[in-house]
Amino acid sequence: MSENVVVLLLLMQISNNYCARNELNIFLFSGHYEFVDLTHSFDNETIYWPNSLNFVFVKKIEELGADGSWYAANDFTAGEHGGTHLDAPYHFYRGGLHAGELPLEKLIVPLVIVDMSAKVNDDPNFVLYKEHLDYILNDNNGKPCIIIFKFGWSKYFNDRKKYLGLAENSNELNFPGLSEEVAKWITSSYKNVVGLGVDVASVDPGSSKQFPVHKITSRHGLYNIENVNLNRDIPEYGCTALVLPMKIKLGTGAPLRLVAICPKEQ
Ligand SMILES: *[C@@H]1O[C@H](CO)[C@@H](O)[C@H](O)[C@H]1NC(C)=O
Ligand SMILES: [Zn+2]
Repeated sequence: MSENVVVLLLLMQISNNYCARNELNIFLFSGHYEFVDLTHSFDNETIYWPNSLNFVFVKKIEELGADGSWYAANDFTAGEHGGTHLDAPYHFYRGGLHAGELPLEKLIVPLVIVDMSAKVNDDPNFVLYKEHLDYILNDNNGKPCIIIFKFGWSKYFNDRKKYLGLAENSNELNFPGLSEEVAKWITSSYKNVVGLGVDVASVDPGSSKQFPVHKITSRHGLYNIENVNLNRDIPEYGCTALVLPMKIKLGTGAPLRLVAICPKEQ
């Protein structure tokens, strides 16, 4: 055997072991799974918390050169807490992790969707209590997971006033959210839950002034995901979430690209 043949055989062996036979890739690209974007797009209209800096997208350069070549580049500025975003535990707990410090083991996890939209029935005063959940919550067999609560609010995302429940001439907000009771229950009884999500602007109800849910999740090391885009239905169990916030080192939160990998419904 020439040296070249030996090298070639070695390379083939390496590629067999590390590429072709990767079991995860075989599952992922078998045609039985799909990638679902649970993120609202960022643009000048994206909803931000009152008093936060909005997402401001400035078109800086768009040039067609004399030789036909193209060059474009933009700037943007934004607060941490707007659009689809993550709240780091540091947001409401001084000893908590920052956005850029969350370990990947807590960010790529099974996803449980709890669809409460029929019970909410478009009522901006709806608050989720334990009694609504007793029969529904599944603990994912003790393995890490996140729970995203669907209130049916994503359909209002393009109407800021309706989405936030803004009163006339004031900064009062009104939209559905979780009760303190539910946050206490999850953090004490379901230690495997690493984060909570909602399809509204805050895990606490819009009318909340004390933000008990934020305080409880932060203190227990959970992150929150807010303004999840649930305009498309996905299975309540069986999806995997990719929770990948911008890695802002000392962020109290960060814009988030949230994707679910879901089994295709047969
Ligand atoms: C977004 O808003 C900024 C500041 O008001 C403005 O300069 C920019 O043109 C807007 N961008 C778009 C795409 O509308
Ligand atoms: Zn936030």
